[in-house]
Amino acid sequence: MKINSNKLDDLFKYYSLQLVGIYDKEELNAIFELVCEYYLGFNKLNVKSKLNANINQSELINIYNACNELKTGKPIQYILKEAYFYNLKFYVDSSTLIPRPETEELVYLIKETLTNESQGLNVVDIGTGSGCIPIILKKQFDNSRFCGIDISDKALEIASSNAVLNNVDVEFFNCDILNTTHILNLKFDCIISNPPYVLYSEAINMDRRVLNFEPSLALFVEENDPIIFYKKIIDLCLNSLSENGFLFFELNPLFANDVMNYADSANLFKTIEVIKDMSGKQRFLKAQKK
Ligand SMILES: C[S@@+](CC[C@H](N)C(=O)[O-])C[C@H]1O[C@@H](n2cnc3c(N)ncnc32)[C@H](O)[C@@H]1O
Repeated sequence: MKINSNKLDDLFKYYSLQLVGIYDKEELNAIFELVCEYYLGFNKLNVKSKLNANINQSELINIYNACNELKTGKPIQYILKEAYFYNLKFYVDSSTLIPRPETEELVYLIKETLTNESQGLNVVDIGTGSGCIPIILKKQFDNSRFCGIDISDKALEIASSNAVLNNVDVEFFNCDILNTTHILNLKFDCIISNPPYVLYSEAINMDRRVLNFEPSLALFVEENDPIIFYKKIIDLCLNSLSENGFLFFELNPLFANDVMNYADSANLFKTIEVIKDMSGKQRFLKAQKK
């Protein structure tokens, strides 16, 4: 199928026909706006008012090529190599998870808890991926020390480049959290983690775009021990979390109660709460050490 002219409106029609059945109308509009923002420098809110604009040949080819990649199911964030989290831009590629809206809610919860008086804290994010969590928090708590750890060197490289991109000082280290006895041999005032939490058996209900393109290392846990990361991190709190320090998790709602019970049985925390996300699912755990 040909694109009728260099008019943006014809490109939009082309996208609509090529991507029908892969994206719904709302997703398609959002994707087209992102593509126009990226390749044409338009503000995405104004794209609809610019449909009569003529674009040059190289812009047309870029947008056409992006459409071909979208047809394979590749997420737009991996095509443009950028994702927005808390309104900041992050570099992403297939070695890091695309930051999710639920994780923005987790960051909001942490920000609410650590209020602005909480300065000079030592904070670690376990399984940091793109580094989105510590980078956003460092923007607010600039007198605190933030670090992120991950088992993936590729993810750590991306996280470091995201700290530079967003002009903050966050340290990143390679560490396999399941095979360590102390987190970086330090004590932290706040430990955060959004670890892998999806069961392989849940994959059949998952979007192909996630399964085919996002890193399995970031997503999946073994069926026989679905809360392995949570248990390990809770155990590490004995030596690695300060008195009165906070632990924050993003959870798989299927196992929220199991994680809560494990935290309770560790007898390390004076308060433990499971908190629902905006869609009413038990998504976060917040605990404060005795
Ligand atoms: C769900 S992703 C979270 C990424 C990022 N924090 C976010 O919220 O967008 C989980 C991360 O845990 C990392 N990971 C997996 N196994 C790990 C391990 N044994 N030790 C440390 N990190 C691990 C993955 O590489 C991935 O970056």
